[in-house]
Amino acid sequence: MQLGIDDLAFATADRYLDLANLAPVHGVEVAKYTVGLGQDRMSVCAPDEDVVTLAAAAALPLVEDLDEDGIASIRTVLLATESGIDQSKSAGVYVHRLLGLSPAARVVELKQACYAGTSALQMALALVARNPEQKVLVICSDVARYDVGSSGEPTQGCGAVAMLVTADPRLVAIEPLSGLHTSDVMDFWRPNYRTTAVVDGRLSIRAYTDSLTGAWQDLQAQGGPAFGDIDAFVYHQPFTKMATKAHAHLTRIAGAPRDAEVMEAQVADTLRYNREIGNSYTASMYIGLASLLDHATEDLAGSRIGFFSYGSGAVGEMFTGVVQPGYRAHLRAAAHRRLLDERVEVTHPEYLEIVAPVNPVDGGDHTIAPVTRNPFRMSAITGHQRVYERTAAADAAVA
Ligand code: CAA
Repeated sequence: MQLGIDDLAFATADRYLDLANLAPVHGVEVAKYTVGLGQDRMSVCAPDEDVVTLAAAAALPLVEDLDEDGIASIRTVLLATESGIDQSKSAGVYVHRLLGLSPAARVVELKQACYAGTSALQMALALVARNPEQKVLVICSDVARYDVGSSGEPTQGCGAVAMLVTADPRLVAIEPLSGLHTSDVMDFWRPNYRTTAVVDGRLSIRAYTDSLTGAWQDLQAQGGPAFGDIDAFVYHQPFTKMATKAHAHLTRIAGAPRDAEVMEAQVADTLRYNREIGNSYTASMYIGLASLLDHATEDLAGSRIGFFSYGSGAVGEMFTGVVQPGYRAHLRAAAHRRLLDERVEVTHPEYLEIVAPVNPVDGGDHTIAPVTRNPFRMSAITGHQRVYERTAAADAAVA
């Protein structure tokens, strides 16, 4: 029996900032961002969006495509995030209600920086192995925020990806072996009292590649596939150039031929969506997978994909999956394209206005004006509680 990803969709904010409008503010050429970092745009959350609304929007099409029995078979929801909205309650519980899932389900939130989505996927696979009749809904959702004016600012973004993990998956069967690497390093973190991350940029890039080395070596020690037996590589993408750098690093340490054209072809399709979205932390690698499946011109059925998931702090995992025959019939490429094309561009001053507000902490009644055109929104923070609602867009998405 094969286990893996049966369905996959992503969501992002419905506004974006073109990095061409950030470069002059930082006094740099736009090529620093478009070429040096490999980023064109970044999604910007409206004041009425957060990890809950993004997560629910990503999962909505998956749930809408299930019949009653299918929905009842989702007995676990695992939500991975490093931009959680509560120290106690899982963001997934709000999402569970917004999606109308069965009360006969367990819901939990997982955290280890950008890596947590992969731990959720592995736990989901274990649960499905135990009972193949069950489906697990894995959601990765994040809002990447750095200080305004900092060098991390052009690597912001936000997004969520939802994956249905099942037996006999229609998209990608995940192979059992993983290479693992954990080391205690302060490359990027966010203390509880901060809304933006603290980062040592140079160290974070070194920590990422060190983790890749460790995870690859462990995968080989576990008896995993050789470099030459992997057809495409999906990396965590804090900015897309990082994936290109990582692939050059892996090619070198694996002792594989360094043919520039081949190396580019092994990652190029994985970068397309993230160039336009920016970093989405836990969701980023899986949006890279959507990008590969949605954009590959050749039929990838039977191809082996290598995944490298990295979470600062730091945990890395390298694993592989095989694309399933007939997968193309189950992709959501048109919806993904529409989502990105229909975003509204914001000017730099508008972006500054959007990112300025800090959540109220007084416990009063704070109504939030409607801005997003996405399917779910936060309508108020009242008595220390976030209040969420479905918008007309949710019903339009179903119709
Ligand atoms: N034209 C073309 N390229 C240019 C250029 C120009 N005019 N000007 C500069 N560049 C290139 C530089 O040469 C450099 O490329 P190389 O690294 O290939 O040499 C690239 O643009 C970036 O330039 P800098 O290194 O000078 O950029 P910076 O110091 O301003 O910051 C950064 C870059 C460290 C990535 C910063 O954006 C940052 O801290 N980002 C957040 C942290 C991050 O994303 N870390 C990644 C690993 S950690 C992780 O993966 C977890 C996570 O999600 C956060």
